[in-house]
Amino acid sequence: MAPLLGFRAFAKINPVLEVLGKRPDGYHELSLLFQTIGLYDTLTFEKEPEGIHLEIPGAPVGLSPGDDNLVFKAAKLFFQKHAPVGGARIHLTKKIPLAAGLGGGSSDAAAALRGLDALFQTKLGPEALQSMAAALGSDVPFFLKGGTALGTGRGEIITPLPPLPEMNLVLVKPQQGLSTPAVYQSGKAQLSAGEYTRKFQSLSPEGPLPALAGNLFNGLEPAALFLMPEVGEIKRRLLEAGAIGALVSGSGPTVFGIARTPAEAEAIAQQMEGGGRMVWVTKTVSAPPFETNPLAP
Ligand code: C5P
Repeated sequence: MAPLLGFRAFAKINPVLEVLGKRPDGYHELSLLFQTIGLYDTLTFEKEPEGIHLEIPGAPVGLSPGDDNLVFKAAKLFFQKHAPVGGARIHLTKKIPLAAGLGGGSSDAAAALRGLDALFQTKLGPEALQSMAAALGSDVPFFLKGGTALGTGRGEIITPLPPLPEMNLVLVKPQQGLSTPAVYQSGKAQLSAGEYTRKFQSLSPEGPLPALAGNLFNGLEPAALFLMPEVGEIKRRLLEAGAIGALVSGSGPTVFGIARTPAEAEAIAQQMEGGGRMVWVTKTVSAPPFETNPLAP
């Protein structure tokens, strides 16, 4: 029997996220840096005679396998646009929390496009994949390749960047999630003009880690803090516990802290437990190993 085709969908953090202004189409113009991290969901793909069958065993509350799921939408778009005969069964194992600012849903959607392209051997190429990804969500194009990248436009225009040095991370997520539209529409985002992105990019990747950690910036952080004051408390505690930098990821509410060593990350994580919060120790990943079975045809 052929091995099941499987793909990992990695989460991301944004070391810099700048909101440049509101656009006539209702989106916000952004300048942001994306970085893949070691927390991931797993998707497997099998051919079916027809239809899209999405299974999410032990699905977290708030995630349905129905047609409002971004993986389902990705599969629907793939079949509509590239119409291979038949259908697919997709099995999604969730590890990345929902509504967390870690891009889990967007990464799953990108993995679905990659997985179906491989399953049906459609060999779509970067342009076709990119255009479907952008139609599914602003963050989805980044996840097609992952690593380190600059995002512009509404976040969907991706320029790959040289890898950052590996960073040890502690992620802390409050019990509740935050809705991305609510964060953008709160009126509390701090606008800037690209200077934080330029500053971060001007730092040498070979330079000292504290320089990078000291130049994190997220214009959505005041909005996340306004909607969920616990986020401020988590950031303060991460820094007190020894993180050399800490920032809300994306639209929040997850806060990531940068630690000097894996042991320090573990020690910081231990101090963050409690209050219903979720805590992970992970690292940045510069070349994400997407395929779970590299020998699969
Ligand atoms: O593109 P995506 O569907 O992920 O965006 C979700 C929501 O986040 C949008 O409907 C919008 O309210 C907000 N958003 C924004 N500007 C962006 C990206 C997202 O206002 N650049």
